[in-house]
Amino acid sequence: MDATKHRLADRVKLKDAHIITRMADIAEGLSDVIRLGRGDPDLGTPAHIVAAGQKALAEGATHYTHPLGIPALRQAIAEDIAARGGARYAPENIVVTPGGQQAMFVIALGLLNPGDEMLVPCPGYNPYHQAAELAGAEVVHIRTTMDTNFCLTAEMVEAHITPKSKILVLINPNNPTGTVTPPAEIARIAEVARRHDLIVISDEIYARLTYGNHSVQPVAALSGMFERTLTLSGFSKAYAMTGWRIGYFAGPPDLIPALAEVNHAFAISTAAVSQHAALAALTGPQDCVEAMRQTYDERRRALCAGLAELGIPHAEPQGAFYVYADVSKTGIGATAFCERLLREGRVMVFPGPIYGDYTDDFVRMSLTQPVARIREAVTRMKGVVEAIRAETRAA
Ligand SMILES: Cc1ncc(COP(=O)(O)O)c(C=O)c1O
Repeated sequence: MDATKHRLADRVKLKDAHIITRMADIAEGLSDVIRLGRGDPDLGTPAHIVAAGQKALAEGATHYTHPLGIPALRQAIAEDIAARGGARYAPENIVVTPGGQQAMFVIALGLLNPGDEMLVPCPGYNPYHQAAELAGAEVVHIRTTMDTNFCLTAEMVEAHITPKSKILVLINPNNPTGTVTPPAEIARIAEVARRHDLIVISDEIYARLTYGNHSVQPVAALSGMFERTLTLSGFSKAYAMTGWRIGYFAGPPDLIPALAEVNHAFAISTAAVSQHAALAALTGPQDCVEAMRQTYDERRRALCAGLAELGIPHAEPQGAFYVYADVSKTGIGATAFCERLLREGRVMVFPGPIYGDYTDDFVRMSLTQPVARIREAVTRMKGVVEAIRAETRAA
């Protein structure tokens, strides 16, 4: 282990990846596992999008494209962002990437110097932490709690600002908590970002997937924010296109050319076939998105009701497709809980520390199985929870 450590660069930290690998290894030896782990929809990519990809391949979309992405796609992205109340981007200020995931690393490596600080909500999607660390920057965790449904506030952000603060990450809706930051709070946070001259990465990849009366305020559309915001999004979640590996970021004209160069160095361009499919996703019928949103909504209600019956508190999922549940009252930590739930109940969920949680109290459950399977998962969970509670009482 020490020898391996010596061979790895200091910036590479193996922290939580092994938990997912360990769970995958355990699941290998089990049958009929209900997988509520990864954030990968069980629903297929809508047929017209797949057909557009097939047609593009047949017509020769098998080469590199324009480094920023095919112009028609960037035009469609610009129109889509504007149509949903976002900023008005010129197509040359949009960079198509192999997934929103790569965009995080392009932005972090392109903007952060060693010693700079990047503020991230905690819990919040962990690859942002890794991106900042790879850039040699410091991650400043802004802790949110379940008392406020893990909502970030302007006061919390301001309390963590130092002269080294450079980037603030907003993930709205948030993964893993499903929190939607209310538009008025986003406006207050934006005011703090302007006053302290922060660049904001606004991750709006789940923005189409919100429930009840929750909605997402696009950050770059707010007064004085266009020039300091990088809007990050993608197709994986709303269009069930995780395997196509396509996303994008959009930003102000002074930053995009250099960031596009970084992206070019990583990828040259995003797969042509995926770009044509994404174009069909944006320009084709949108009822498929609404149908998927309603499906996740039903599953969300079923899972929340099941957890309530088990006496397991959880955050209110206002967006995305996750339920973030507090298993600490069972008497064991979330990481141990996930392993037991998998071994004994054949249900896979992931522990909060994977998502940058500062406690080992919560598990993230993805709504990536039909309602009947989710109900079955709750039944299996009941057996495991009762066994753990009985042991805890006996101890
Ligand atoms: C908040 C958030 N942003 C971005 C991504 C990256 O998605 P992709 O690379 O598939 O576009 C994910 C994936 O889970 C996510 O949860």
